Amino acid sequence: MTRKILVTSALPYANGSIHLGHLVEHIQTDIFVRFQRLMGNQCYYMCADDAHGTAIMLSAEKSKQKPEDYIYNIRKEHIQDFKAFNISHDHYYSTHSEENRILSEEIYLKAKQSGAITTKEIKQYYCEQTNLFLSDRFIKGRCPKCHEEDQYGDACEKCFHTYDATELKEPYSVYSGKKPVIKNSIHYFFKLSNFKDIINNWLQEGHVTDPVKNKLQEWLDVGLKDWDISRDAPYFGFRIPEETNKYFYVWLDAPIGYISTTKNWCDTTKKESFERIWKSKEYEIHHFIGKDILYFHTLFWPALLHVGGYQLPQKVNVHGFLTVNNEKMSKSRGTFILAKSYLKKLNPEFLRYYYASKLTSAIDDLDFSTKDFTNKINSDVLGKVINICSRLSAIIHKYGEGNISTIPSGAKNMLESIRSHRKKIENFYETLEFSKAMKEIMICADIANQFIDSEAPWSVAKSDTKYAIEICTAGINACRYIMIYLKPVLPNIVEGVEALLNNAPYKWNDLDTTIETQSIKTYHHLASRITLEEVEHIINM
Ligand code: 2FM
Ligand code: ZN
Repeated sequence: MTRKILVTSALPYANGSIHLGHLVEHIQTDIFVRFQRLMGNQCYYMCADDAHGTAIMLSAEKSKQKPEDYIYNIRKEHIQDFKAFNISHDHYYSTHSEENRILSEEIYLKAKQSGAITTKEIKQYYCEQTNLFLSDRFIKGRCPKCHEEDQYGDACEKCFHTYDATELKEPYSVYSGKKPVIKNSIHYFFKLSNFKDIINNWLQEGHVTDPVKNKLQEWLDVGLKDWDISRDAPYFGFRIPEETNKYFYVWLDAPIGYISTTKNWCDTTKKESFERIWKSKEYEIHHFIGKDILYFHTLFWPALLHVGGYQLPQKVNVHGFLTVNNEKMSKSRGTFILAKSYLKKLNPEFLRYYYASKLTSAIDDLDFSTKDFTNKINSDVLGKVINICSRLSAIIHKYGEGNISTIPSGAKNMLESIRSHRKKIENFYETLEFSKAMKEIMICADIANQFIDSEAPWSVAKSDTKYAIEICTAGINACRYIMIYLKPVLPNIVEGVEALLNNAPYKWNDLDTTIETQSIKTYHHLASRITLEEVEHIINM
């Protein structure tokens, strides 16, 4: 039975460039998506720029552009960067779209009809230097619980406590750095507690891992607070229906961007109906997010989906943050690496492999260590994998006129042993245990290399060319299995091998077959070794 799956990565803000942190998530998602497609499942991957909010409005102003132009240019740049890393989005749209406006209003009005919207006068911090109300992410201070410095106005990244911005100790405006004043304003609230049972039932059904579930359970036990979904003008976003000076908070229309992106893609390509994807159980919805936006995706989002008449996600997959040489990515430390800086020096496939070799289903942070990266790429990708192709194809061209022959009976065990890892690897890809999958695949590469080294076809060829080519045929088949295993991670390199071996694009089921008595092309360079200096260069660019 083929599965039908819709996958999303969190929508990057249309503010600033794509960096290696975004890429953890997009590479993780893309490996999952490519694996599903390789298995023969129908898997669509949707993403978009998250284009609204005060920060974007101010950045546009600063760069003397209209926000519409500003987000248009950023989106173009984002699309380019993701493409360079082979992220295979089926569609990359924007939350600032007509579809998103209509769907956001629709969901909001349904929520209102169901009695889940209320208004309250609130006291809010106001920055007198910039004349702006300060929403949660634009006010910082000490966490009221653990006293950690520089925490946002909604939740602490250290102890995960959630609170009201007015509870922050020593608050300051992110715009001016100055202490804000308090002003009154009428705001719209979404009564999240109306959906407690829906959220709770969803939570019990296993759509998140256990540690994430425990965190959510804590939040549920503390009690669900009403969610402030409005912002005062000036704001770049969608106006609230029947209001003139109030806008939807960016976090209301952002996740709805998942749906509106799908809708735009369905309407344009006519490949599928968006209702079937989002409203019927035929499709599974899988979200990939970072741990900082868990609250939005596991409490608000299921509630919004429910009230809007959409199906709830099958999976919300949560990853940790990226550190660089064990430090938080930071501009001042020079450890803030843009996708573009990386691309100037290094092969994008290498980052995909490196992340895969470190990613698990847990929310632990992931470290980009320049030394470890250099070693792993040289030893695994170049030394263990690509090396097999280049060595064997050279012998096949030198002694066999570019033709492989048959697999000798003495090599059957070796090939079977590589194939015997298939179910484990499959399961590791499915459950996002990519680091375990890469370990298994490297065990397979070791098996292949040991076979080739002990059979030494380069010296056998001097006395028995026929047998030497048979050994190479076995080696090439081992290599082909390994490439099928690696295809979700290294799409470009594997495409090169498919061309080299004159094979149609690999499917997972090609692990059932072997190739014999056929020609192969001459080897073209697939990737080069790297040095620590080259890698360190990208840090200080
Ligand atoms: O945290 C962020 O970067 C947000 N732009 C993610 C939005 S995800 C979705 F809900 F739109
Ligand atoms: Zn704290």
